[in-house]
Amino acid sequence: MGPRLRGNHPSAGPAFLLEVAVAALAAAASDVPEKFNVGPEHFMQANLHKEQALFLKPADAHEATCQSRSFVQRRSEVSQVSASGADFSSQSAVDVVIVGAGYSGLSVAHKLRQSNISFRVIEARHRLGGRILDEDISKRGDADDTIEIGGQWLHDTHSNAIAFMNAMGFDVYEPGQQEGLQKFPCSGCHGRVATSSGWLNASASGKATWPLSIEEMRLFHATLDTIWKEISETPCKDPLSNPNAPIFDSLSYDAYLRQHHQLESFPEFERVYGTLLDLCLEAEGAERVSALHCLWKANCTHSGQHAGGKFFRVRGGPQASLKHLASELQSMGSIWLSSEVLAIKDSDESDSEESDEKLKVVVTNTTTVLARHVVLAGLPPAQLLKIKFVPQLPEEVSKLLSLLSLGSVRKYSLVYKAPWWRARGYSGSIRYVNYSLPSLDPQRCFDNSPYSASRGVLTCMTTGDVNRGLQRLSEEARRAALQSVVHGAFGAAEADESPQVVDKDWSRDAYSGGANVFYPTGTFSSSWPGTLQVFFHHQLSSSIWIAGADYSHISHGYMNGAIGSGQAVAERLVQTLHA
Ligand SMILES: Cc1cc2nc3c(=O)[nH]c(=O)nc-3n(C[C@H](O)[C@H](O)[C@H](O)COP(=O)(O)OP(=O)(O)OC[C@H]3O[C@@H](n4cnc5c(N)ncnc54)[C@H](O)[C@@H]3O)c2cc1C
Ligand SMILES: *[C@@H]1O[C@H](CO)[C@@H](O)[C@H](O)[C@H]1NC(C)=O
Ligand SMILES: *[C@@H]1O[C@H](CO)[C@@H](O)[C@H](O)[C@H]1NC(C)=O
Ligand SMILES: *[C@@H]1O[C@H](CO)[C@@H](O)[C@H](O)[C@H]1NC(C)=O
Ligand SMILES: *[C@@H]1O[C@H](CO)[C@@H](O)[C@H](O)[C@H]1NC(C)=O
Ligand SMILES: *[C@@H]1O[C@H](CO)[C@@H](O)[C@H](O)[C@H]1NC(C)=O
Repeated sequence: MGPRLRGNHPSAGPAFLLEVAVAALAAAASDVPEKFNVGPEHFMQANLHKEQALFLKPADAHEATCQSRSFVQRRSEVSQVSASGADFSSQSAVDVVIVGAGYSGLSVAHKLRQSNISFRVIEARHRLGGRILDEDISKRGDADDTIEIGGQWLHDTHSNAIAFMNAMGFDVYEPGQQEGLQKFPCSGCHGRVATSSGWLNASASGKATWPLSIEEMRLFHATLDTIWKEISETPCKDPLSNPNAPIFDSLSYDAYLRQHHQLESFPEFERVYGTLLDLCLEAEGAERVSALHCLWKANCTHSGQHAGGKFFRVRGGPQASLKHLASELQSMGSIWLSSEVLAIKDSDESDSEESDEKLKVVVTNTTTVLARHVVLAGLPPAQLLKIKFVPQLPEEVSKLLSLLSLGSVRKYSLVYKAPWWRARGYSGSIRYVNYSLPSLDPQRCFDNSPYSASRGVLTCMTTGDVNRGLQRLSEEARRAALQSVVHGAFGAAEADESPQVVDKDWSRDAYSGGANVFYPTGTFSSSWPGTLQVFFHHQLSSSIWIAGADYSHISHGYMNGAIGSGQAVAERLVQTLHA
């Protein structure tokens, strides 16, 4: 039995734990929580609202009168009187149409409501939440049996999101630390990591713990220092000032690590590669992502932030919190579900007598709405480009949107009667690489048992080539592939156990097409004017705005970015409309 890879073995000699060094430098880059301690008791959450029949159907929505009493609303009445187009005579213009009822769209609505600005949210799906979706795995109506099918984790630096959940009356919790529940004794339990030489124990969160020689450690630190220097030379607001910007954009992040930093000359390349990949976490293989995108994003994300390294989930689920918000919004505006926006055009009518600004006509497959302003909230690039704009979007914006890609991502959950892996001393965290594929992209699974601990859930996120591989398999073969990962990591489950499967491939979801916008190799430099406009100004024309996790330079790709960009757009709208 070779002790060579057991980093914390007392006889490991002059070895350093790579994980420790990197955790301090890259804490914010992980998406897997450190601790999972869940006890056996059930707690009902008192303040959860069941989905109510609160949404107006498009058919009767245009008859609803707007309750707004603001100055803005009086202007809208004026403009309605002066309106000439008979087509819209049955409806008054609304101040703001928000396209998309995900976190960004409803954050905009929330802020507008606080300023008495009228709005209408238009959502293509029959449900709220966009890339947020909760599932009640027990089907007995207990909110604490919820697991997350889409977005899930809030990091302790995600202050917009945490404040938002609290304002909605929803608690965030650290899994395993639930008050009143028995803590799961996880300090001594291990995650598992698949390496080219087999499965190994890892830290509770599944990070590999490698022993490195002094020389390897020196090399690794030198590389890490250089990468951080290159990040610091790629300022969030002016990344092209990096003198190597064209080179870094021409390299994928994978090539940047292997070739530019000569990682391939490392004695055991794999030991450090995965750790450095974590500096640029996307839902796509590093072979496709521009290295310049990674340096830019790291500069934007890490600036001035000290990550405490804690990860939270939302008790009752992040979609429940949005449903609660939607019920509160009813007094100021309406939310139309199952209405897809097809076109956004200038009308013949002016916003008001004193302005030349044209009202916008928002055409959906069910109805047409007049609005002063339109916010595109969270629509992935391909969905956004399907909308017909008259006049067209600025060229640099359409160019940017046509270049951006989304990661291929799936969340696959195995629901067992109990978290059997804990009894064997394992945390449930797995990190694996599919060595039959050329990509060394690490995939992650984790203990995703619900707050109530009524079931044991293991959830795997599969991305990039691994996910595309799983897409080609039958349902049965996919299940066998993922169960083989779990059994490889923790041993077989109890013999009689046939877990329930909850599987969602977001890349095959018509209104998402994946998650986490990234710049493919070679696209970042040439699309900077569009990036500046979309990610920083959030304004595409005098009355068309853009928000969303994928268009936020803070917490890019996360709920926190969706909320932050939505709030920023709403503030600008309040200023504009109250001016
Ligand atoms: C598997 C997975 C795991 C994730 N994990 C995390 C995590 O742990 N932590 C985290 O913070 N984030 C996570 N995310 C990301 C997070 O879910 C998203 O960033 C966030 O929910 C995006 O919100 P949004 O409002 O910007 O966009 P969306 O939620 O995508 O909202 C856009 C809305 O627009 C609608 N729409 C599209 N086209 C039209 C149209 N033509 N007309 C009308 N409506 C339209 C869509 O249906 C959708 O509801 C994850 C995502 C996935 C998929
Ligand atoms: C919004 O309207 C309510 C009720 O008319 C009023 O009390 C409140 O002050 C208004 N808020 C703002 C920000 O105008
Ligand atoms: C981002 O870039 C600015 C400007 O070069 C630099 O001062 C800052 O330290 C960088 N941030 C990080 C995290 O490197
Ligand atoms: C409008 O589009 C949505 C989303 O595609 C669809 O669910 C709905 O049935 C459509 N409605 C009509 C009237 O065509
Ligand atoms: C790995 O971790 C498990 C669970 O904590 C433990 O039982 C086992 O002995 C460990 N194996 C090694 C080789 O350390
Ligand atoms: C690994 O990739 C091979 C080849 O595409 C595929 O057959 C297998 O199911 C994959 N396994 C997992 C766990 O993704």
